Amino acid sequence: MDFQSWMTAVQQRTERALESLLPAADIAPQRLHRAMRYATLGGGKRVRPLLCHAAGELAGADCARLDIAGCAVEMIHAYSLVHDDLPCMDDDVLRRGKPTCHVEYDEATALLVGDALQSQAFLLLSDHVLANDPRRQLDMLRLLAQSAGSRGMAGGQMIDIEGTGHELTRAELEFMHVHKTGALIRSAILLGAQCGTPLPEVEMARLDHFAKRVGLLFQVIDDILDTEASTATLGKTAGKDAAQGKATYVSAMGLAEAREMADTLRREARESIEAFGERGRRLHELAHFIVTRKF
Ligand code: IPE
Ligand code: IPE
Ligand code: MG
Ligand code: MG
Ligand code: MG
Repeated sequence: MDFQSWMTAVQQRTERALESLLPAADIAPQRLHRAMRYATLGGGKRVRPLLCHAAGELAGADCARLDIAGCAVEMIHAYSLVHDDLPCMDDDVLRRGKPTCHVEYDEATALLVGDALQSQAFLLLSDHVLANDPRRQLDMLRLLAQSAGSRGMAGGQMIDIEGTGHELTRAELEFMHVHKTGALIRSAILLGAQCGTPLPEVEMARLDHFAKRVGLLFQVIDDILDTEASTATLGKTAGKDAAQGKATYVSAMGLAEAREMADTLRREARESIEAFGERGRRLHELAHFIVTRKF
């Protein structure tokens, strides 16, 4: 199957899975459930579920398990976007081509949407068997918790907020990006692999190295797109980083060097999974997609 068809198929099955795994809109409290569905369904590239499926296929994982793991990560991601857009954070009005959750509903609802999506993600990982060994499944829960929490995404967001209006060193910038975006992307890949047959330690280490490079790469490209792309293409307000004085790879080193940095990360990512040969094909293709994407 060519990459485009594979990607569309995974995106479609992710959409269907999210549809059925989110609380129905007519269950009380309807407003919260409607808003959770608004923030999660019908948009987004689904990069994290795609990475989860790609890594899972490499480990021979069952697709139904990958749907659950991919949706759990996507729910955390959707929650992070809802909170990231709040007036007290990045104060954005457009997301995935639609009004942001707090604009469509209100701030209190958006806050609760984030809280509830996060809980829903952990419910998924508790309700479904994802690994034959229950201890392994507990490790998976722990990985997602860590990648979303203060030493992961939430911690990275704290640094982003604190760093707004300041120049960060290269090391601080990398630390911020690795946490706010890299951690969740890494966990999507590792959870996918953990849904399958346990990989030898050396293979897991390769995959982890790939995951870390791709996680950082993803946010470097996000920074570049914020300056290069249009609001219409992005489906979110372009040029916001510079307008708000955000510390980004573009503000720190300029567009050309940020592009070079992205190429380097992409090469490092590719090299780390070369030994997988054909088994790593989807991961290679996704790394390419992440660098060349237009939104
Ligand atoms: C945007 O993520 C926020 C970041 C973590 C950089 P995506 O670019 O994956 O957003 P969607 O899910 O496709 O809308
Ligand atoms: C967001 O980074 C990272 C998250 C954890 C949500 P950005 O603030 O750059 O994401 P966008 O550009 O608003 O999607
Ligand atoms: Mg932000
Ligand atoms: Mg933002
Ligand atoms: Mg951004």
